[in-house]
Amino acid sequence: MNTIEKLFAYLTLFFLMAACSQDDVHRSALLQYDEQIDEIIARMTLEEKVNMLHGKHLFSSAGVERLGIADMKYTDGPFGIREELHSDSWQPLGIENDRATFFPTGSALAATWSPELACEYGKAMAIEARLRGKDMVLGPSINIQRIPTGGRTYEYLSEDPFLSARLSVGYTKGMQDQGVAACLKHYALNNQENNRGRVNVVVGERAMHEIYLPPFRAAVEEADAFGVMSAYNKVNGWWCAENEILLTQILRNDWGFAGMVISDWGGTHSTVESVESGLNVEMPGKKYMGEALLDSVKAGVVSEEVIDRRVREILRVRMAIQPIPEDEANREVASQPAQQKVAYDVAARSIVLLKNDGILPLALDRRPVIAVIGDNATQTMAKGGIGAGVKTPYEVAPLDGLKNKVADRAEIVYARGYQSAPFRFGRRFWNKTAEELEEMRKEQERAALDLKKEALEVAAKADIVLFIGGNNRTVESEGFDRRDIFLPSGQDELVRSIAEVNPNIVTVLVSGAPNDLNVVQPLSKALLLSWFNGSEGGNAMADVLLGNSSPGGRLPFTLPMKLDDSPAYALGNYPQGEQGSDIFANLVAGKKDDSRKADTIKPGNDPNTAIYSEESLVGYRWFDTKNVPVMYPFGYGLTYASFEYSDLTTKKNKFGKNDVISLTFDLENTGNMPADEVVQAYVHRVNPSVEWPYKELKAFSRVTLQPGERKNVSLDIPVKSLMYWNESLQVWAHDPCTLELFVGASAGDIRLKKEVILR
Ligand code: BGC
Repeated sequence: MNTIEKLFAYLTLFFLMAACSQDDVHRSALLQYDEQIDEIIARMTLEEKVNMLHGKHLFSSAGVERLGIADMKYTDGPFGIREELHSDSWQPLGIENDRATFFPTGSALAATWSPELACEYGKAMAIEARLRGKDMVLGPSINIQRIPTGGRTYEYLSEDPFLSARLSVGYTKGMQDQGVAACLKHYALNNQENNRGRVNVVVGERAMHEIYLPPFRAAVEEADAFGVMSAYNKVNGWWCAENEILLTQILRNDWGFAGMVISDWGGTHSTVESVESGLNVEMPGKKYMGEALLDSVKAGVVSEEVIDRRVREILRVRMAIQPIPEDEANREVASQPAQQKVAYDVAARSIVLLKNDGILPLALDRRPVIAVIGDNATQTMAKGGIGAGVKTPYEVAPLDGLKNKVADRAEIVYARGYQSAPFRFGRRFWNKTAEELEEMRKEQERAALDLKKEALEVAAKADIVLFIGGNNRTVESEGFDRRDIFLPSGQDELVRSIAEVNPNIVTVLVSGAPNDLNVVQPLSKALLLSWFNGSEGGNAMADVLLGNSSPGGRLPFTLPMKLDDSPAYALGNYPQGEQGSDIFANLVAGKKDDSRKADTIKPGNDPNTAIYSEESLVGYRWFDTKNVPVMYPFGYGLTYASFEYSDLTTKKNKFGKNDVISLTFDLENTGNMPADEVVQAYVHRVNPSVEWPYKELKAFSRVTLQPGERKNVSLDIPVKSLMYWNESLQVWAHDPCTLELFVGASAGDIRLKKEVILR
């Protein structure tokens, strides 16, 4: 570059930076406490300060008793308040009042496409957290669902950053408005469970800023989230708990986060790097941020100013959240009717109808015989696998829900049909010899044959077969990813056999993540996805099947034709190799943390390096851009009505950088039942100057219409939300081009189009 070119480049950079200058950085309400905090910090000893920077018990960190500053009490999250454990062991305390509402898990919440419901959800959970005496809920879980097999897909929201962001904001606001801090997790790029404690995510900056960070950013900037949990993995070479780029440059400097960062449990790996990079609390224990930190300050390796900064960030949250005295917690059962109603509302609105040949809603006027077949008809999903579950006072399983709602209007006969495989890390497998394991397998095979025989007999005599299958909480779990997405425990085979004796099959899948539907889809007259749907899941499912409510959920992820079509698989980026032991399982078992070993492994096809070479082409962005057919597209879902879209308009055709593109169109319910349509607006760039996915979701709304009702719907797309991350200049930048606006009912069903110009 010659001098003139250099000058020009600097000027461009200067103006771009000025455009996103200080004024744009979100100003947290937490800053109001800083003067008071100055006084407190001035009175604290170094020991008292360091004492706040690590776990006191498994789910708390210390305050300063001498100064009347209460401890911080944490609780899992994210889909119900976890039962009370002994303070320093993972054993349940065994009290009664810690029973909490089991809310539909993340993917179910996302399937409602309703930020308003997410707000109610956060609020309801906060009410229960207060009754339990907690200050901070470890949720929402908002990582992007990058791979269909991801163990925590059920807990995360969506494959799309915009949908995830809108829901994260709702959840966080609802929760914090009730005086409980939210803790956004797992920051960042914890998109797989296999080797989560070791894996180094190698990701380009554009994909990071445009796909993986937006849910976190939105919850910080728009909902003023008070807490963030750093993830177990590394991002671009640095553990998330000591990642200066993530914790300081992006989170605090760019987004204006003023609260506290706690490490995932056992996910801290250093003393100096962690505290200096922006970690406030090592959880649990004090391996790195206890004595070692104190010594580092005394030796002058870490300055006390850094310690003060970290203490200040914790104190801000402490001041914003009223502590609950010990003797006021757990006085009454946390789960109460008002919160249970929220669990029902979310469940009822989350169910996705994928196919309906007209068999639904079920007609009961002739008192049909309904054969309910499948293990998931009676299974509950509040607990299972590794990690947080909810000890709930009740959970309505699908069969019970159906019986509640049908009463004597049909004859319901149940057969289990298949048996879920036992948890592969469960106690049943410990210390078993190879012969014993083989014998167990044979026993299971014999049992499976008997169950199938019984199911076929029941199915043959029924008018309708309601097959209730899917995954469960031991198939989908924290700590490991699924090996494939096939329906487990021989369900495909079973449905094939049922179809031979009775073609009237309605299939309900109780799964939190995608399944391969190639067998059940064509054999079912109707197909629904009913999620891990909380305490009221069975009632919600029955109401939808019977037409008491119209299904209105939409897929928050793509259902691929086959697993290998999905981006990370198609590119050979996943799985990276053998799965090692899990960091959290090791922590609970008191085993030595072996994550440091990862440092010694060379890059290139090793199990501890995840290369995100699909870049921004995650989920539908990949299928669309690469023209890969799918089983059901992102955003898809039917109702018992039908909708017509017409007359898409915008007030003008050219938009500047500070404009908002307001688009309006007419929507009419042309069916004969009230129903909700989730209208979705995508943008497609016609002549861009940088690369983009074929289209991206930028606005949506869930609209309720009575039969024959017509409504003028408007959706807003701020032009700012169309910027891209310019990697060389390290700023958000505009890409002026012709933009095609798509409005439709899913990523695969665009009904209206209009071109506008971005200046
Ligand atoms: C999980 C976190 C959870 C923590 C405490 C970890 O294994 O990754 O999501 O909050 O445990 O239970």
